[in-house]
Amino acid sequence: MRIGVAREIKTDEYRVALTPAGARELAQHGHDVLVESTAGEGSAFLDSDYERAGARIVSVDDVWAQSELLLKVKEPIEPEYGRLREGLVLFTYLHIAADEPLTRALVDSGITAVAYETVETDDRRLPLLAPMSEIAGRLASQAGAHFLEKPLGGRGLLLSGVPGVAPGRVLVVGGGIVGYNAAIIALGLGAQVTILERSIDRMRHLDEILSGRVSLVMSSTLQIESSVSDADVVIGAVLVPGAVAPKLITREMLGVMKKGAVIVDVAIDQGGCVETARPTTHSDPVYSVDGIIHYCVANMPGGVPITSTKALTNATLPYVEEVAEHGIAEAVARDRALARGVNVLHGKITYEAVAEAHDLEYTPLDAVLPLTPA
Ligand SMILES: NC(=O)c1ccc[n+]([C@@H]2O[C@H](COP(=O)([O-])OP(=O)(O)OC[C@H]3O[C@@H](n4cnc5c(N)ncnc54)[C@H](O)[C@@H]3O)[C@@H](O)[C@H]2O)c1
Repeated sequence: MRIGVAREIKTDEYRVALTPAGARELAQHGHDVLVESTAGEGSAFLDSDYERAGARIVSVDDVWAQSELLLKVKEPIEPEYGRLREGLVLFTYLHIAADEPLTRALVDSGITAVAYETVETDDRRLPLLAPMSEIAGRLASQAGAHFLEKPLGGRGLLLSGVPGVAPGRVLVVGGGIVGYNAAIIALGLGAQVTILERSIDRMRHLDEILSGRVSLVMSSTLQIESSVSDADVVIGAVLVPGAVAPKLITREMLGVMKKGAVIVDVAIDQGGCVETARPTTHSDPVYSVDGIIHYCVANMPGGVPITSTKALTNATLPYVEEVAEHGIAEAVARDRALARGVNVLHGKITYEAVAEAHDLEYTPLDAVLPLTPA
């Protein structure tokens, strides 16, 4: 199959959808890999690295026009709408339930679009979102430690402490993928860590894998209120699937927190779990409300593109290989997780939540494709 890798043109997006290592795997299996010139530069991959891996470097026009399967990181933006076309399979983060113009552009073009974020296994894991949650969680503790420094507006506390001086306290609200990864980095820095969770099964699992090194406490409004007053860093990491994040930390609670404490609201991409949180960017990541530093970067993994690109490719490559090997119809018949990723097939909306969000016609995937392997 002819597989293209387009350069990202969205502001501040430095990731690329395929590493040279991934290109080598595909080329070795006999696929024709086209990489748009300089697509990998933001992630420290040169055109020559891809060429050595067996890919061809092509122009933006050629990568969009010649590919059968096009790999991207972010959703197409307006200048790219004219390049969408029938016969192309696009594999990328899409988030189209919140983007009507793009949904219409995809439908009108007759393209097939598979969204990383809706690829979902039978046990409800989201394998193409998980690596970004791992990165965001790990960054959250780094950011918290950093912005505790006095010249940056923080309390002026070293999270690890030193011999004879107690370490700082990190409170993680939500013990899922982000929360677990935030906790292990905070532990590594030597902080005292508490995780508030709502799921007892998840707490049992965390207790097992963290072998008692963190305090695991049932999350409730009362518990959050009392825990935030002790914390030097609060990390918001809750997710209620399919809903905006609940506002668990209210403005009133800021009043009981220590001045110069840092809140990192990782859930900001779902609206944030802190009442006073609003999205910030890597170039201007923090602001202060009532003396509490707020870090609310909505695309945290974008700050570390070398790591994010590799982690993303590790997760996407098996699915790319399936589509490349069998074609989209047979690949989705073989893999239910991949089938759930199909948002648009030949211009028809095959993901119910997307059709509902925009009041457009929904066509179940199995009405247009036989979902049993040939
Ligand atoms: N800002 C970024 O760059 C970025 C990057 C990746 C993920 N995220 C966001 O981080 C959030 C967490 O993602 P995740 O992958 O860890 O999700 P996850 O589903 O793995 O974990 C969420 C956890 O929150 C818990 N939870 C729900 N309600 C709670 C409550 N009231 N109190 C305590 N815990 C509660 C759930 O039981 C679950 O364990 C999501 O909103 C996700 O979109 C943001």
